[in-house]
Amino acid sequence: MKIFLDTANLEEIKEAISWGVINGVTTNPSIIAREKNVDYYKQIEEICKIVDGPVHAMVTSRDLDKMVEQARKLRNIAPNVVIKIPLTFNGLKAIKILKSEGITTNATVVYSATQALLAVNAGASYVSPFYGRIEDLDYENVIKDIVNIFKNYNYQAEILTASVRLPIHLKKAALAGADIATVPLNVLRQIIMHPSSDIALTEFLNDWEKGCNVDAISN
Ligand code: G3P
Repeated sequence: MKIFLDTANLEEIKEAISWGVINGVTTNPSIIAREKNVDYYKQIEEICKIVDGPVHAMVTSRDLDKMVEQARKLRNIAPNVVIKIPLTFNGLKAIKILKSEGITTNATVVYSATQALLAVNAGASYVSPFYGRIEDLDYENVIKDIVNIFKNYNYQAEILTASVRLPIHLKKAALAGADIATVPLNVLRQIIMHPSSDIALTEFLNDWEKGCNVDAISN
């Protein structure tokens, strides 16, 4: 399963790249706005310079012409930019137009398997079910349903689980068979810093310091 980082913060991206665990980056307008006083296009360009993989950037309008125009502008930044298009009537139209121009899209704010089905028919290369928000609404099995529908019809679009807020969301997305999960840095940190791993390591290092003389061994 591929793991993307859900952030527009350059330091966070560099940190996660150094751990060797991420394959791409996703952003959205809220995430970009958190970076305070950055130029949207410049920030995506900076992210593309350091990420060796897809960088997902979302359009910021509901209007069809504006979405398509912005998608073209974002795609011109770098070939690895994927355009996130919201799942709306105009969004589906935009996905169809952009597909005909060879521009890769990710259908975002997906809350149901049938929305994912329409997105992939329109030409989306990725669909993004919002797992945490879906769970808030008490829906069940959306990711598993999308996986099964895509398998039934041999759809090649990738299922990118977004709104991952807890380590268990990543586990459930992986168990359901999602292709990708995009995860915030704080969730990756929680996964790595397991308290039991730290207790076990502390025990080993304490025993080693008490019982062994490294200099004596190397002599
Ligand atoms: O990628 C979409 C994601 O950032 C939304 O996450 O936690 O705001 O639902 P959240």
